[in-house]
Amino acid sequence: MSAARDTEKLLAAREAALLVERGMRVGLGTGTTVAFLLEALSTRAIDATFVATSPHTQAAALALGLHVEDFDAETELDLAIDGADQIAPDGWLIKGAGGALTREKIVAASAKRYVIIADSSKLVDSLGPPVPLELMAFGLRATLARLGSTTVRAVPLSPDGGVVADYHGEVHDPALLSRRLADMPGVVEHGLFAPTLISDVLVASGNTVRRVISGGRQ
Ligand code: 5RP
Repeated sequence: MSAARDTEKLLAAREAALLVERGMRVGLGTGTTVAFLLEALSTRAIDATFVATSPHTQAAALALGLHVEDFDAETELDLAIDGADQIAPDGWLIKGAGGALTREKIVAASAKRYVIIADSSKLVDSLGPPVPLELMAFGLRATLARLGSTTVRAVPLSPDGGVVADYHGEVHDPALLSRRLADMPGVVEHGLFAPTLISDVLVASGNTVRRVISGGRQ
């Protein structure tokens, strides 16, 4: 990954870190962009409580001195901030390259405001494969046969015991595919995130951070 992309991630992360205020309960996504966010948050040293979407984020946040709680201790979050793999002009996203999509979607849905941060390489004209999936281990072969065009990743099970996989079929209509995947027995979660879940998308291009999409959620 180029230094320019890392600079963009850093700038978007710093902008989002400014949204965190004292006393807030904040969800933290997973990935390299979120790693910059964690650093920015530790520099600001705000008295806030954080919930992590992966063991990796949890360990990194704790190492930086952030106050992290289990999500079981919270019912609603004030804010959640996360990265994305693809951002379409209509606000649909693909997430889950890091395999944390299920927890990320739960945290997104539990936050009053859900903000995406990204470098400019994540902007696409239309979403395309792969769409990350978390699948039940039980009946896995039958689920894969029903799905078609899906490969299982050579990675450990998710922290919740799910099998991480990728759907390689065309996306075409994200709403339709989202429903199809959600309705499929054996699919725990999929990486299509609807605009109605998203409040803001902050993308850095060069030295400028822009709110490229004001999501469908207020
Ligand atoms: C992890 C994710 C990440 O947010 C997404 O893959 C972006 O990662 P990065 O910031 O490393 O490009 O969805 O499951």
